[in-house]
Amino acid sequence: MTKYIGILTSGGDSPGLNAAIRGVGKAALNHYGMQIIGFRDGFRGLMENRTMALDASNLSDILTRGGTLLGTSRDKPHRMPVGGKVVDMTDVIVGNYHDNHLDVLVCLGGGGTQKNALRLKDKGLNIITLPKTIDNDVAMTDITFGFDTALGIATDAIDRLHSTAHSHHRIIVVEIMGHRAGWLALGAGIAGGADVILIPEIPYAVESVAEAIRERSRRGKTFSIVAMAEGAISQQEHEELQAAKKEKLANKAKESKKAEAEDAPETQYAEKTVRLAKQLELLTGLETRITILGHLQRGGIPSAADRLLATRLGTACTELINQGHYGVMVAARGDGAKAVKLEEVAGKVKTVPPDHPWILSARHVGTNLGD
Ligand code: F6P
Repeated sequence: MTKYIGILTSGGDSPGLNAAIRGVGKAALNHYGMQIIGFRDGFRGLMENRTMALDASNLSDILTRGGTLLGTSRDKPHRMPVGGKVVDMTDVIVGNYHDNHLDVLVCLGGGGTQKNALRLKDKGLNIITLPKTIDNDVAMTDITFGFDTALGIATDAIDRLHSTAHSHHRIIVVEIMGHRAGWLALGAGIAGGADVILIPEIPYAVESVAEAIRERSRRGKTFSIVAMAEGAISQQEHEELQAAKKEKLANKAKESKKAEAEDAPETQYAEKTVRLAKQLELLTGLETRITILGHLQRGGIPSAADRLLATRLGTACTELINQGHYGVMVAARGDGAKAVKLEEVAGKVKTVPPDHPWILSARHVGTNLGD
């Protein structure tokens, strides 16, 4: 019996999505004789039954393209904005899955997508996910596709900022994406030789950062690059957050609302970056500028490593479908792939452990981490 695959991309886009769609699709069509259909704009397209036929012609020439040919959205099946209201559309989605005679739905996404996928699995659907995000914060996988490309872009930006910061004897604070995880800022900060790296996992003291910069000035280095993760927080903010969490934990209903908010992209990041730049200018006497890399980090062609990763996870996904192995995320493990139960992934965030080798390396080369 021919198997029918549905596929969608959900959450923020990420370099390598097209390579993954191609990997799943080409293996399905060419190797296993399956059929595949795309749904546009994430779970919203599945809810509205907006489909895209995927065949040899449109799966071709997409390996090197950024973005996702299917389109994406952050809509969740159980909290879908419809006609000015937020509605639970899970049953409609389940209905459309069956109406399209799908044997499996492949969802390409980050942490939020893993949770939504598990909800659909619990409704009886056959689901497989692939881990994508430039943030690299999906649990149980060595790496996510999109991360390597963004790492290259952010590193290139830090390289370029060096010469202008040097010429003007300035501090440049460069804000790097990553949501609540510091992988991207830490990786790019180390690779680009940032003098200070601030990540959410290590709350910073502004005086420690300022002193590191003043010390550089005393050694004749009259410029500094601060790589600041968008989710980085000061020690004071950390304490306030902990206190707020304690209070909310006392109330379970409020806690579930908080979980929803944690999936949402933050809009306040830039304010914190501007504030830090102003503080550093005051404390060091050095002129300070900020650079917010923003969505540049998600755009353009995927790196070779991301194309390779997305292709191997995509083809491994189709192999699992052939075996009828559902309810899993296809995780990257070493050079291969491993099926991990959605229950083990959903709701978890992979942050940078304080004793991670990258942290130790950064400290050993003399980088200030704000603590
Ligand atoms: O999760 C990927 C990511 O790029 C985060 O690094 C960032 O905080 C967020 O998405 C931005 O979301 P949006 O594209 O919706 O503004």
